[in-house]
Amino acid sequence: MLPMESAVAPPRVALADVRRLVVERTDPIAGRCRYVTDLGARQVPQPILLARRGESFDGVIENALPQPTTVHFHGLTLPEAQDGAGFDAIAPGARKSVRFEVKNRSGLYWFHPHPHGFTAEQVYAGLTGLLVVTDEDDDALDAALALAPGNRLALAIADARVVGGAMRPYAPSVEDCLHGWLGNRALVNGQLDAAWIVRPGWVRLQILNTCNARGLLVAFRGGETLVPFHLLGTDGGLLAAPRELDRVFLYTGERVDIGIDLRGRRALVAVSLEFDPRHHTGGAAPRHRHAARKRYAPLAAGTVCESASGAAEGRLEDGAELALFALRVDGTPMRTPPLPSRLSVLPEPAAQPEAPTRRMRLDFDERAGFLIDQAPYRADEIAFSVSRGTREVWEIKNSPISMPHPMHLHGFGFRVLRRQGTYGDARRLATEPGGRLATDLGVKDTVVLWPNETVWLAMDFTLPQEVAFRGAQRFMFHCHNLEHEDGMMMRNFSVI
Ligand code: C2O
Ligand code: CU
Ligand code: CU
Repeated sequence: MLPMESAVAPPRVALADVRRLVVERTDPIAGRCRYVTDLGARQVPQPILLARRGESFDGVIENALPQPTTVHFHGLTLPEAQDGAGFDAIAPGARKSVRFEVKNRSGLYWFHPHPHGFTAEQVYAGLTGLLVVTDEDDDALDAALALAPGNRLALAIADARVVGGAMRPYAPSVEDCLHGWLGNRALVNGQLDAAWIVRPGWVRLQILNTCNARGLLVAFRGGETLVPFHLLGTDGGLLAAPRELDRVFLYTGERVDIGIDLRGRRALVAVSLEFDPRHHTGGAAPRHRHAARKRYAPLAAGTVCESASGAAEGRLEDGAELALFALRVDGTPMRTPPLPSRLSVLPEPAAQPEAPTRRMRLDFDERAGFLIDQAPYRADEIAFSVSRGTREVWEIKNSPISMPHPMHLHGFGFRVLRRQGTYGDARRLATEPGGRLATDLGVKDTVVLWPNETVWLAMDFTLPQEVAFRGAQRFMFHCHNLEHEDGMMMRNFSVI
């Protein structure tokens, strides 16, 4: 059982008020890092940023790390120059001015480093920030739920290797670079054993999986039983209608928006339930050579993907049960109105799976590593181009001898049309038409492909008619298992 103190709420800062965002290392031994902004004379570490749809960011990003970095706003539709995708990393000691407008629907978005070859290490070091975007749909939902102040939480769940009370620095072995770097303890908004006090009534949780590699099967235990909850939204905002569930898969980079009726409950423990992640890939991932890695030292004292055995101490296998955080229910009961039956209007995707525009395969090869369409990442390559404004259907097939790959598209939300070849625990949760899971009903920017699965995605490459979006724009499509991403499971494409 987790302790029941209330966690310190991270400071909330309006995106529009941020003038400087500093990326800094706070602990050279363990290699811990953080984002800091300032509000007047006050330094605010690891802020949760808040924005109304249509608001802008206009600030300077300062890199105080000893490595190159970028700030990528995951899920937002941004021009290439503001996307922070790693094409133009900020050198140590350098700064970059960034200006953009938030075009996306309300939802939980986030920001993290994306400098190729350093992403996994920097995210594990603590560089994850949340961005909560609101709009009228979002306001209407909070009002309909009569949410108490404090009953809406934005939570970033990471996993850390904690041994003897200390957090292990990032030093993956060859094995870790194959399956991903897995920790043994959940860090929620940077805290171990996180717990929040909430009032009886509705609670709304917007949850991000920011683990490097661990998939989560999120559920809530109230004593011996699982407490039912309502799925309200996914990566790119609210669903059309809520879905009642008792567990939900949340892979790295994905978000869920959840409502729980806490009436009559004293405490809940959020856990990741045990599941079979179906890692079928044996052997070893080849060592990938990033030219830049030779020029910059690791954030902590350690090596990256080099030791054959490595210290597996503090590694908890993917799919093992893991306690995440606790909610203690306290205070005067709130009014608990019925959940609204409509949450938002989602345009039906026009495209149909019968006519895929593009087919892609995900593979693993012991010599070449993780592959999208038989090719490892090349920074200077454009794998394909799409015309702006077009709609496409992508058919993506994961090899049967494989592992789950949470595939992420920059810049554009998409819809999941159909799944085929799903086995294991995901199969049992595929309750929706087309073999889909409840989370497939929303707008997504990251979708997990289980081994042997084929998914069909409806893409819409419409870009805003603005100067900033003129000309060819490069975007990325990659696996959000960060060891796979740094291991070249990524492609560039261009929208022209
Ligand atoms: Cu969350 Cu390309 O990343
Ligand atoms: Cu992204
Ligand atoms: Cu992967």
